[in-house]
Amino acid sequence: MPPTDSIESLLKEERRFHPDPTFVRHARVGSHHAYAAMHKQSLDEPEIFWREQTVDLVWRTPWKTFSEWKLPHAKFFVGATLNLTESCLDRHLTTSRRTKAALVWEGEPGDSRTLTYFELHREVVRAAAALTDLGVKAGDRVAIYMGMVPEVVVAMLACARLGAPHSVVFAGFSAEALRDRINDCGAKVLLTQDGAWRRGSVVPLKAMADVALQQTPTVEKVVVLRRIGRGETQVVMKHGRDVWWDDWLSRVGPGPSLDHAKAPPAFDAEHPLFVLYTSGSTGKPKGVLHTTAGYLAGVHVTTKYVFDLRDDDTYWCTADIGWVTGHSYIVYGPLSCGATCVMFEGAPNFPDWGRFWSVIERHGVTVLYTAPTAIRAFIRAGDEWPARYDLSSLRLLGSVGEPINPEAWMWYHRVVGKERCPIVDTWWQTETGSIMLATLPGAVFAKPGSTGLPLFGVEVGVVKDRGEDCSPGEGGKLVVKRPWPSMARTLWKDDDRYLKTYWDVIPNVYFTGDGARRDEDDYLWVVGRIDDVLNVAGHRIGTAEIESALVSHPSVAEAAAVGRPDELKGHALVVFVTVKAGQKAGKELKEALAAHIDKEIGKFARPDSIRFTDALPKTRSGKIMRRLLKDIAAGGETQGDTSTLEDLGVLAKLRATEED
Ligand code: PRX
Repeated sequence: MPPTDSIESLLKEERRFHPDPTFVRHARVGSHHAYAAMHKQSLDEPEIFWREQTVDLVWRTPWKTFSEWKLPHAKFFVGATLNLTESCLDRHLTTSRRTKAALVWEGEPGDSRTLTYFELHREVVRAAAALTDLGVKAGDRVAIYMGMVPEVVVAMLACARLGAPHSVVFAGFSAEALRDRINDCGAKVLLTQDGAWRRGSVVPLKAMADVALQQTPTVEKVVVLRRIGRGETQVVMKHGRDVWWDDWLSRVGPGPSLDHAKAPPAFDAEHPLFVLYTSGSTGKPKGVLHTTAGYLAGVHVTTKYVFDLRDDDTYWCTADIGWVTGHSYIVYGPLSCGATCVMFEGAPNFPDWGRFWSVIERHGVTVLYTAPTAIRAFIRAGDEWPARYDLSSLRLLGSVGEPINPEAWMWYHRVVGKERCPIVDTWWQTETGSIMLATLPGAVFAKPGSTGLPLFGVEVGVVKDRGEDCSPGEGGKLVVKRPWPSMARTLWKDDDRYLKTYWDVIPNVYFTGDGARRDEDDYLWVVGRIDDVLNVAGHRIGTAEIESALVSHPSVAEAAAVGRPDELKGHALVVFVTVKAGQKAGKELKEALAAHIDKEIGKFARPDSIRFTDALPKTRSGKIMRRLLKDIAAGGETQGDTSTLEDLGVLAKLRATEED
């Protein structure tokens, strides 16, 4: 079955997979009944539920009121003060976790490093002192443009310790994209590295940052980690602005001046923790703002229950730190639970398709959290790769980022989990902060392709345009019916857009942008975005972002970007382009446009197909008819109403445009 099954075909999915009885015996939540009781309490008596569930966290001042909600501003754990890093680090130092591995890191070339909770704490205290030395104060923004190295975790936690919101920019983004994000949040400091390994070659992060830094007036200091450390990375250090990471740290110790035992400052529950940019339906990325206590509570509780994490687990989330999954489920959630986290710098297929399985075998990974795109790529690479490795340490598998098609689910279950490990599909978003829907392992059965049931504190609905509930099985819009602790508080300096995008679409509820249906067992089936956002290989890409990048090219008059179902990536990106008078549409321009997208956004956003056309189908009022373009991109007949189309001839011409 292709990955983008329609609601109708998913409706025919009737298989049920009950968790293994051994797993159930030890599960944190061992039955549907227990889940339902906890879920009910989380909605009916949130004070009691959250008080109990956050008792492990370190509160400097306890909260007085659970929540206050006045659009657009939500507050949770009102009155509390805390330093989030005490929950992730300090609290473990007085327990046997002190010497437990917090991070087990493996570099792409095969180098490795382990940081215990004691060591990670030390590094974070030092980096926080070094940030202070650069003039960073609570409230200042720090941009982080780094790859998957242990220092990126240190950097994020050091910012959190100081109350300086970080904005991590995925290392696959271009200089222009980095510049725009730095400028939007007004970062004072940039933390980066000489280069990052990517399939044996080096991505020159510092050189790209230098291009961005030509137009980022707010950045005063740049700290550069030497990851590659070889001549060919060609790092130019700007005197007075740039400092090497090691020199930066050595300015503040180690030594008695760094009082590791000293308690860090406490912040209000709603103190900003980070800004993370994500795509929306306009060309301008949205700076999603998360705050301290609610976010921490959300990621802590979900990590504990969804992954059923134990002290002896070795947990591996394969996401990149530049996306929300890396934030919530590599850093904040697992560390707040005292877990051992594997962190891997490389790609799944370098040097060959056995790399992932080899990481699992060598580190004895017990819980694996990865994405359907990766699973589909593994299916294509062949069962012989996982078969060569010992995967018997695995006990739980997770999936995130896009709908997992039943075929990929079955492969994951059979080939990786050996029909023994529960699979937990998890639906959530950058904006939700933590997992919202899941097939809680041990508690409920799984249905391949369904994201299961709402988690604690989460009340969802599948509704029609005006908010009326859909009947079971009927497709509609996925909404969240009440605020929840880890939800985004706003978009950076843009309350209006926050309201318009999420809270004004359907009355009184949060609109997710996704289409879904709820079946007769109350299981949710998320089929993907219904707004102008695409999910390409698990990357969220706004069609408007691609279009505005394309029209900024001097040869382009107009552009429209749409998704086409793709077996591997979920969706492939197809763009239709009209060129300006006198410009030649052809192979050369195609290459130039692909390179232009690399430059404006990043290589991961490169279109799979660029099609030139004389005109785009438009309504009489001049709106591009994307629905028609989608049908054409998918190679099918155009469906539905074309009566508002201005020029019917355009359709025939479009179908004739050359496919790559
Ligand atoms: O369309 C949904 C899809 O990914 C979107 C959120 O993307 P992002 O903010 O980048 O966060 C990705 C990681 C949480 C959602 O609106 N999505 C995410 N998880 C699933 C999913 N679609 C179906 N099933 C999922 N498990």
